[in-house]
Parts: sequence; C-alpha cells; structure tokens
Amino acid sequence: MGHRMDSEKRLKIAIQKSGRLADMSLQLLEKCGIQLSKSRDQLLCRSQNFPLDVFLVRDDDIPAFLATDVCQLGVLGQNVLREKQAVGNGKFAGLVEELPLGYGRCRLSIAVPQGFAYDGLASLQGKTIATSYKGLLGAYLTANNISADIVTMEGAVEVAPRTHLADVICDLVSTGNTLISNGLVETDVILQSEAVLVKNQIADAEIAQLCDKLMSRIKAVQRAAQSRYIMLNSPTDSLAAIKAVLPGSQSPTVMPLQGRDDMVAVHAVCEEGVFWDTMEELKANGANSILVVPIEKMLD
Ligand code: PRP
Ligand code: ZN
Repeated sequence: MGHRMDSEKRLKIAIQKSGRLADMSLQLLEKCGIQLSKSRDQLLCRSQNFPLDVFLVRDDDIPAFLATDVCQLGVLGQNVLREKQAVGNGKFAGLVEELPLGYGRCRLSIAVPQGFAYDGLASLQGKTIATSYKGLLGAYLTANNISADIVTMEGAVEVAPRTHLADVICDLVSTGNTLISNGLVETDVILQSEAVLVKNQIADAEIAQLCDKLMSRIKAVQRAAQSRYIMLNSPTDSLAAIKAVLPGSQSPTVMPLQGRDDMVAVHAVCEEGVFWDTMEELKANGANSILVVPIEKMLD
C-alpha cells in the first residue's frame, strides 16, 4: 500500500506539441476527463486522475514513438501516418487507425501554376514535382503510369515552381489560401485526411484495458458532441406525428402535464443534431415550449 500509483501500469499517448492538431488533441483528452499538469513546454505530462502519460512531440515523430512502443497510442493526421507507411519498409505496418477524430481535415493534392497547360495526369509525364510526401505521391504516380521526377522538400513546397525548383507541387491543402496566394491551382486530390487515433500492437493485457477505457470515453465524447436533448409540449393526439419528426431518437419520455389532459411533455435525446427546420416542423405539428440543450456527457 502507499506506493500503489508507482507500480500501476500507465498507458502512453503521443500527441502533436504544436501545429494544426495540437489544441484539439489536448481538448479531446480534457473532454475525456483527463487532467494534465499545465506546463506545455515539457515533453511529458502525467495525468493525476487517469493512468496516462502524454508525450508532446512533432507529428512526424509520432509513428516512430508507436513503432518502438514508447507510446501505445498516438493522435496524428492520416497524411503523416500513410506517408510513413509508404516509405517505411514495413516498419509502420503494425500501426492501426482505430478511430477517426473529425478534426484536422485536409487533403494531399497536386497543384500547378496558373497558366500551366494541365489536361489530366498525363500532363505531368516527365515533369518535376516538389513535395514532402514522396511515398504517397510516388505510389499515386506509379498507379497511374506516370513517370515524373520527385523533389523532396521539408517545407515551403509552394514556392518551388516560382523558384524553378519544380514544375508543379504536391502538398497539403486545407483552406486553399496557401495555393491561392502562390498562384497555384489544385488539380488532383491524392488523399483526404483527418486526425485519427492510432494504436500499435498492444501486448500487455492491463495496458490494452486502459486503452479500451480511453477509447470508450472518446467515443462517448464524440456521440455527446453531435447529440442534443430536446424538451417540448405536445398535443396528446399529435404525439405520433411529433415522435416521427424527432431526429434519431430512440424512445422519448412522455410525461403528463399537471392540470392538462390534452397536452403531454416529451423529452428525447436526438443523436443527429436538431436544426431550425426540425423545430419548425415540430411547431407545425402542434408542439410548443420547444427547448434544445447540448449534452455534456453520455454513456450507456
Ligand atoms: C500545410 C501545407 C501548406 C498549408 C496549406 O502546412 O504545407 O503550407 O498547410 O493550408 P491552407 O490550404 O489552409 O493554406 P502546415 O501548416 O501543415 O505546416 P507544415 O508544412 O510545416 O507541417
Ligand atoms: Zn508537420
């Protein structure tokens, strides 16, 4: 006794320290009820209320953390994982995309300078393409029988055509602003990407159990985020019509209203979000006092 915390096994997760996924990934853990020490400058944060250690690292390094079992879980973009797998000679084959997380959406695309005579992929034959994604780009070109020279750049790929380092580029696009401000036009999407929870081949049963526990919390957070609790009063005789309009609700709770036998109160969890047109349809069916509230947590 006394030193129980020290001997307990701890799950280790790697997330991006700074960059496009960093804030959302930290928020996701917070929404799962995991408290972390405040300082973000350090590499490692220990949670006090869940046996979890959080490693704050560069996203490109996360696959290596998983492959060497320094961490068992990681949050990273599919673009990063798939690229590492494409160039990794099987080193990252055991990493599994467990759960899409719905943020960090972007796409890996080919883009050409304005005025480039683009008429399908064949226009890239014999050209030079700058990218940080030579694995994914190479596989895409091979699959489409195009031979082109790939120039690998770590960053600032979008300036390559202007500086004559390459004819065209292949890079991540999110808002499209970078392309526009560099006079480039997107032509082909190679990969659609979002943040995913990635798992390695966990051998330890206790660690696997912690992993399942964290994943079920993440799934609960995701379900709650898109669900709403709706309360309304319905005429007793249009209850069937009202129920039919409620989006994605299982079995609403129907309660009497004191002193009224023509009206009932209806409470329901709607798992599809409730929009204005749904509320207007409920009202058109005789409902009133319609309240829609967000759900913070949900577990069943
Ligand atoms: C990517 C990409 C572009 C930019 C595109 O870089 O290399 O520069 O995002 O985004 P936009 O379409 O919204 O303009 P990122 O921010 O991921 O930085 P990195 O290349 O240093 O990883
Ligand atoms: Zn990066």
